Amino acid sequence: MPAEKNLKKNKFKTALEFTKNIFTTGAVAQTSREVEVEITKYLNANKDLVVVEYGLGHGNITAEILSKLSKNSKLYSFEVNEEFCEYVAKEIEDDRLSIVNDGAENIFKHVEEKVDFFVSSIPITFFSKEKTELILNQSYKALKDKAYFSQILYSKIHIKKFENVFDECEIVKTNNFPAGFIHHCQKT
Ligand SMILES: C[S@@+](CC[C@H](N)C(=O)[O-])C[C@H]1O[C@@H](n2cnc3c(N)ncnc32)[C@H](O)[C@@H]1O
Repeated sequence: MPAEKNLKKNKFKTALEFTKNIFTTGAVAQTSREVEVEITKYLNANKDLVVVEYGLGHGNITAEILSKLSKNSKLYSFEVNEEFCEYVAKEIEDDRLSIVNDGAENIFKHVEEKVDFFVSSIPITFFSKEKTELILNQSYKALKDKAYFSQILYSKIHIKKFENVFDECEIVKTNNFPAGFIHHCQKT
């Protein structure tokens, strides 16, 4: 099948799966190319890194992270949906990637190293205040100094939750529809 047709077919399949699981995905389609680029902009490809992704989905941001990582880096990608984990395990074969079929809130069960960068697309808008605080506080604890936690959301109204945990936060708006708000939060 021509690559373009295959891509369209995959996008359709992803949209269908996301919609079917709307209460855990929080979205009807995967994030746009613009979001993939913006959310990974603080990834420093010149060093070997430990990166953690929350919300693998069908692996579009995962592929972008891997394309920027050095060959001895490590990426842990957390996802609660088992089918999504199986889908990506078949689509992306890469020794640097560890797919973790568990929630972001259980990071310390799976990641012992300090983390250089977090990339998150989990739908915290749908989470309880307690769950969001737990995930953000644990991520801050795991993060190295000067490192970033970057999260895509479709509104700016949750910024306080990030400012309460991280030392510096900025929001970058993407121009696609619906507009995305990438929260880049730093531990200084
Ligand atoms: C909006 S989708 C984003 C998927 C993909 N990264 C993208 O950019 O299109 C959010 C993903 O987070 C997953 N998810 C929801 N709660 C989670 C949690 N507590 N920990 C890890 N993943 C979670 C959902 O199953 C879904 O695949």
